[in-house]
Amino acid sequence: MLRDTGEERLKEGVVIKKEAAKVKERLEGARNIAVLTGAGVSAESGVPTFRGEGGLWKNFRAEELATPEAFKKDPALVWEFYDFRRQTLSRIRPNPAHYALARLSERFENFTVITQNVDGLHTLAGSKTVLELHGNIWRVRCLECGGVSENRVVPINTPPRCNCGGLLRPDVVWFGEALPEETFQKALRAAEKCEIMLVVGTSGVVQPAMSLAVAAKSNGAFLVEINPDPGLLSHIMDVVIPAGAGKTLPELL
Ligand code: OAD
Repeated sequence: MLRDTGEERLKEGVVIKKEAAKVKERLEGARNIAVLTGAGVSAESGVPTFRGEGGLWKNFRAEELATPEAFKKDPALVWEFYDFRRQTLSRIRPNPAHYALARLSERFENFTVITQNVDGLHTLAGSKTVLELHGNIWRVRCLECGGVSENRVVPINTPPRCNCGGLLRPDVVWFGEALPEETFQKALRAAEKCEIMLVVGTSGVVQPAMSLAVAAKSNGAFLVEINPDPGLLSHIMDVVIPAGAGKTLPELL
């Protein structure tokens, strides 16, 4: 049935403006801001989220391919998956959400973007302090010599090899692996120190990323969730804006 959604869009716009006004008031005079982002912040750029529509690749879930075991068993298949994601990403640009965060960051003494995304879009949009908890899809790491380098070749011959002959893997964190320790510690410090944390576009099901929101809350931060389908952590939020990041974040400027 055809439906005119003009009225719904109008209502959504009013909600966004009203809730964004509360957040803006909080931001006035604040010095330390942390932002925790997930796949949803890149959704409006055309990057499929993991647990939403289009999140499956050849019927595999990320949890089945993004593991050291899967790579050991079939490195070519895992690389095929990453090559597919890299090809999609190579055509994609940051969206208004990434740009709004980059602009917002200029106003504060400390503004840390902590992201679970490996797409590099925050940096491309101009954000300066970006902590990539799960690595970066445009880097590779050699299983033999341990060398890490940037690699933007698309499509890539799978599985790619290092100059030393060793097998290369994407320099991302897989399920069952530890997060880069130094990056996580920096993120934890930013979470504990912030007065306001924006939690944007994450389902909140993956740890330890989500523990950062809890750490911020325990240290008295004001928590804001921006997500059209608010996630697991909504109950600890002070404000929940149930809307897309690309529409909402520019309202904070
Ligand atoms: P998910 O796919 O689990 O969640 C994406 C979230 O974004 C959902 O809650 C959506 O409702 C929300 N969303 C969708 N469109 C949005 C929009 N326009 N604006 C704001 N939010 C929107 O992705 P993550 O939470 O990032 O890990 O997943 C966490 C980790 O699990 C990923 O880093 C990845 C994954 O498997 C690894 O690969 C190690």
